[in-house]
Amino acid sequence: SKPKVYITRKVPVEGVRLLAEHCEVTHWDREDAVPRVELLKNVSGMDALFCLLTEKVDAEVLNAAGPQLKCVATMSVGYDHIDLAECKKRGISVGFTPDVLTNAVAELTMALLLATSRRLKEGMNAVIQGKWGTWNPIWLLGSGLDGATVGVVGLGRIGFEVVKRLHPFGVAKVLYSDVEPKSYAKDVNAEYATLDDLLKTSDFVLGCCALTKENMGLFNKDAFSKMKNTAIFVNTSRGGLVNQDDLYAALSTNQIAGAGLDVTNPEPLPTDSPLLKLENCIVLPHIASATIKSRSAMSELTGQNILACLNGKKMPAQVVV
Ligand code: GLV
Ligand code: GLV
Repeated sequence: SKPKVYITRKVPVEGVRLLAEHCEVTHWDREDAVPRVELLKNVSGMDALFCLLTEKVDAEVLNAAGPQLKCVATMSVGYDHIDLAECKKRGISVGFTPDVLTNAVAELTMALLLATSRRLKEGMNAVIQGKWGTWNPIWLLGSGLDGATVGVVGLGRIGFEVVKRLHPFGVAKVLYSDVEPKSYAKDVNAEYATLDDLLKTSDFVLGCCALTKENMGLFNKDAFSKMKNTAIFVNTSRGGLVNQDDLYAALSTNQIAGAGLDVTNPEPLPTDSPLLKLENCIVLPHIASATIKSRSAMSELTGQNILACLNGKKMPAQVVV
């Protein structure tokens, strides 16, 4: 009989089609997240789980699935929502979707950089609210990227592509911090720095690293206090990197000049979050990988990961555990 796969959401068709050819697919074919109780019920007896970053895959889910579960494949590059130790204990392979979303995420990171540094939210609001008086030589002046020092926290696949895109905008200098220096940094003219030095000297600080136990809440009061008053903070990785109360305090007291967030904690960000009232804070609903091309490729790669695993092969994009 065909292997059984559970898909936790309506996703671009590519991955679903691929799996349907070879597997018996059960599908939460809706745009809302599968409720936890439904997930626990539906995962029972499955050989593979096709999930998203909205599903916490922990011992409870793996136990509910049963001992025949061979793989968990997430349609995301981040896998902080998956308990790798529990997967490893059970011999379950974990797949993810690097590379296929790198350009899209780097592009949206640039969009947030440009939007915050050129004060697009304030400008758009002013137009809508009838506060556009006249062409004004001293109104809505921003810092821009030309001549800026940009600090990238995490020079992985995405950070690297962001740096490539920064140079054509005329940045003066790119610094990066990471757990260790990267040999490929010289290819994009990025200079290794301690996080401290990066925070102190950058005009823009970008969160481009994966969320781990170690860097949870990395951008806190202490970090914001080291940043320039003119600095802008942009995060396109995970909301868990940021202490949001501290970010709000830093923004509302002009300790830093602005922020652009594609990710928050929690998601969705409640509409009464004080961050949303700030003119100098742009919040997007976690859409960095949301291009047609990228999301289609993410779906397809997730399907390929599952098929490879079910065929006893290494996944094209397998998490090393
Ligand atoms: C999105 O945040 C992803 O991890 O793919
Ligand atoms: C702006 O529109 C200018 O002409 O300088």
